[in-house]
Amino acid sequence: MKILVTGGAGFIGSAVVRRAVAQGHAVVNVDCLTYAACLDNVASVAGSPLYAFEQANICDAPAIARIFATHRPDAVMHLAAESHVDRSIDGPGAFIETNVKGTFVMLEAARAHWQAMGRPEGFRFHHISTDEVFGSLGPEGKFTEDTPYDPRSPYSASKAASDHLVRAWHETYGLPVVLTNCSNNYGPFHFPEKLIPVVILNALHGRPIPVYGQGLNVRDWLFVEDHADALLLALQKGRVGRSYNIGGENEARNIDLVRTICALLDEARPGNHPYADQITFVTDRPGHDARYAIDPSRIREELGWRPSVTLEEGLRRTVAWYLANEDWWRPLLARKGVGERLGKG
Ligand SMILES: NC(=O)c1ccc[n+]([C@@H]2O[C@H](COP(=O)([O-])OP(=O)(O)OC[C@H]3O[C@@H](n4cnc5c(N)ncnc54)[C@H](O)[C@@H]3O)[C@@H](O)[C@H]2O)c1
Repeated sequence: MKILVTGGAGFIGSAVVRRAVAQGHAVVNVDCLTYAACLDNVASVAGSPLYAFEQANICDAPAIARIFATHRPDAVMHLAAESHVDRSIDGPGAFIETNVKGTFVMLEAARAHWQAMGRPEGFRFHHISTDEVFGSLGPEGKFTEDTPYDPRSPYSASKAASDHLVRAWHETYGLPVVLTNCSNNYGPFHFPEKLIPVVILNALHGRPIPVYGQGLNVRDWLFVEDHADALLLALQKGRVGRSYNIGGENEARNIDLVRTICALLDEARPGNHPYADQITFVTDRPGHDARYAIDPSRIREELGWRPSVTLEEGLRRTVAWYLANEDWWRPLLARKGVGERLGKG
């Protein structure tokens, strides 16, 4: 299958690109290379005859139409997005532009391509979204695919809007779509502005390890390579028009997660004090959602997927990867906004 992947130079998109090529699929990676992109993420497949790269903005309709006409993909996996909640608080405009308008442009280009090809049944537009569209949970319960949408940040509101567009293009035009909403990802190649890499790198640099509020917010962590497998499965086996929640079944409070990472670093690269001494509580994020948790029953029962990596194992692998890959993360620390406290409101 030839898959057009948007956002393939980002964290999750690059994991999808690497995995898709390993499975023998041809991949066209469409990415405009924002501050969050890194082509090194796909260096391992860049020389493959199965891989092509197109630098383009998903809001640029003529460029996207040209890419569809040139490559004639059998499927689209749409991951390109502005993805950092704190940046969405400081500058929501870019989130509306890329996540809403960009998704609209992708849908229209995919629809024109699908219609021009004679509406093949096997064509798919797979939209990759987040559990943040469902809002915030109390101490009990989990998000199912039927949980009403209740986004609370500019990021999650823009993703919710994009999900609605995708469903509308299915209902109105018959475009064969599949949606997935997943929990927080982590693992190798995670951009160093997100919680887990921030903890690892601040610890190593002897800097304060910032924890928002009291660190009591709960997230359901998913190892990125498990997510890439689930996405490729949903693309190929998911029912048209259906959405699937994907979660790691690994809930943890932020403070416990941070302490676990510190303990792993104490083991792997002992310093002259426990890294947990560097933990510093900072002002909470405005509108910080208390808890996310995914009920992944549908993808487990219909598609037979379940996560293969526990949180402890995944964190161990992630810490080891950052320790071994300083050449990857060091240049990224110089990018605009990285290492600064963003999104105080
Ligand atoms: N990271 C998570 O924990 C998580 C969880 C659930 C869902 N998601 C969703 O998964 C997708 C990928 O997330 P990620 O963490 O890999 O994001 P990321 O920020 O690491 O990567 C996004 C990629 O999209 C590209 N991009 C951004 N705007 C673009 C535009 N206008 N045109 C073309 N390319 C553009 C960037 O250059 C970058 O390579 C997003 O849609 C996000 O909403 C992420």
